[in-house]
Formats: sequence, structure tokens, C-alpha cells
Amino acid sequence: MQSNQAATRIKMLTEMGIGPVWLPRYADAIQEAIEVSVTADPSIDHIETATQSVIAEAIVAPVGNMQVPEAVLSDETASAWFDQSPVSDVLPVSSRVVALRSVSDMSWDELEASVASCRACGLCEGRQKTVFGVGARTANWLFVGEGPGYNENIQGEPFVGAAGQLLDNMLLSLGVRRGERTYIANVVKCRPSNQEGKDRPPSADEIASCLPYLERQIALIQPQVIVALGKTAAIALTGFDPETPVTQLRNKVHRVAGIPMVATYHPAYLLRKPLEKSKAWQDLCLAQRTFDGTSV
Ligand code: URA
Repeated sequence: MQSNQAATRIKMLTEMGIGPVWLPRYADAIQEAIEVSVTADPSIDHIETATQSVIAEAIVAPVGNMQVPEAVLSDETASAWFDQSPVSDVLPVSSRVVALRSVSDMSWDELEASVASCRACGLCEGRQKTVFGVGARTANWLFVGEGPGYNENIQGEPFVGAAGQLLDNMLLSLGVRRGERTYIANVVKCRPSNQEGKDRPPSADEIASCLPYLERQIALIQPQVIVALGKTAAIALTGFDPETPVTQLRNKVHRVAGIPMVATYHPAYLLRKPLEKSKAWQDLCLAQRTFDGTSV
């Protein structure tokens, strides 16, 4: 199939409002290339149902005379994604029709729908429910955990167990309640579990696949302060080396997409090590001072 035919078909399907389907970060560059191609040759000879091969061709092949920029193709995320390319069985049949819509452009509803049907990594295989996040879409405070656990996977809401109760108390200490001026999200939206069915931390690949969703949530909410709950969240948000000790992440105000971010201990860790609660209290005081500073 000619690349520009594929491009034209995708453009048509996009205009018919079919989709959306999750695409990785470099979708913008591909869409731009396709748009240039379609503008150069607007003739639409015939339309057939878009298949995964259309998606694959649009992504892998140069479109018209345009080359997908090398920097885009050499990106690690891109190559990881190609490994699970759309021609594999990662995408369900229902996702064969594509609308070129990158996560970074999605509305709340599109983002929520995209997460609900996401098959970007293996975590989709074992999930019962995706855990998108909960709270006010205009929240002042954003709390970011690691990923859903056993109970969250069943209920579809973040922090519903004992750790959630402690988190609710941490919120109260800041003068807020779950759902009021706060939003609670996770780095990954599906539960990571090991061979024995126990909760485990998400892998670097799983985090990389899911992070665009959290980034979009942050961009849509525009909170005044982000609180990273635990090392996984702090590392994912800052991009620091995963070996960075927690002591280097705490006690300072980081910037995440221009928004102040304070790192503290994960509530589940605090349940195991209650003596560390005093340090978490210090972190929350820093978060509160930061909040007060941003709200002046
Ligand atoms: N731990 C997390 O990091 N997130 C949850 O939603 C639940 C437990």
C-alpha cells in the first residue's frame, strides 16, 4: 500500500471521529508528516477499513517524501514500542481503527477512555480494572502513588486499603480531604503483580509506557503542588536515576513541568515503619509551605 494512501485513510478516519487510540509520544511528529503529505496530495481515491497494517505502515514507513525524523525513531521509548508494534497482538481487534491523537493533546474524557482500553504494556493482561485516578479535575494538590495494588485493581480507585486510610489522614493534616481540592493518581494505571500474584513495583518499561497519562493529568489539572508518595513516584516524575537515595529526593522542592513537587514516603512504607512518620510530617510541612508560597 502506498504510504500516502495510508496517510489519507488515517486522516479520513480521524475526521470521522473514529478512535481515539493511544499512540506514543512521537505521534505528533508522525501526524505532522502525514498532514504535510495529505496536503500535498489531497486526492482520496478509495477508503477501506483501516487495519493494524495501516497503523504500522503509517508509523514505520516514511510518508510521501517526508521521513519520520531520525531523533524520533531512535528514541528508546519508540523502539520499546515498536517491539510491541501494532501488528502484534497487543492491540485488540477493537483498536484496529486509528485516530491520530496523541496523549498530550487529549481531553479528560479522551484520556480516561484511552486508559480504560490501554494495552501499551503487559500489565493490561492481568488487570481487573484500570485505576485512572480520583479527585477534583481542578485540584490544588496532586498526590502521586506508585500503582494500584490488589484492592485498587478490584475497585478501580487509588489507595483504598490501609495505606489509603493513612493517606487520607495525611491529606487532613494539610487541611484537605480526598476529592476536595485534591487529586490522587498513580504512576501506572494497572496493577503490577508477580508470579505468585503479589503486588510488586512497576518495571522501568511499564513506567515508561504509562507515564504520558500521568503527564497529561498533570497538564490538565495544573495543581499548585505535587506530592510524590514514595521513591517510584519521585523518580518517575523527576527522571532521576532509579538508584538515587530517598534522602536526595526529600527535603527539597523539585519542579515537574514547572510545578513544585515534594517527595515523601509511601503510606504503605509508613505503615511498616511507623517511626518514619515524623519525617513524612516534615515533608508535608515543606509541601504546605510550598503551597502557601505558590498561593500568595
Ligand atoms: N499504592 C499505590 O501506590 N497506589 C495505590 O493506588 C495503592 C497503593
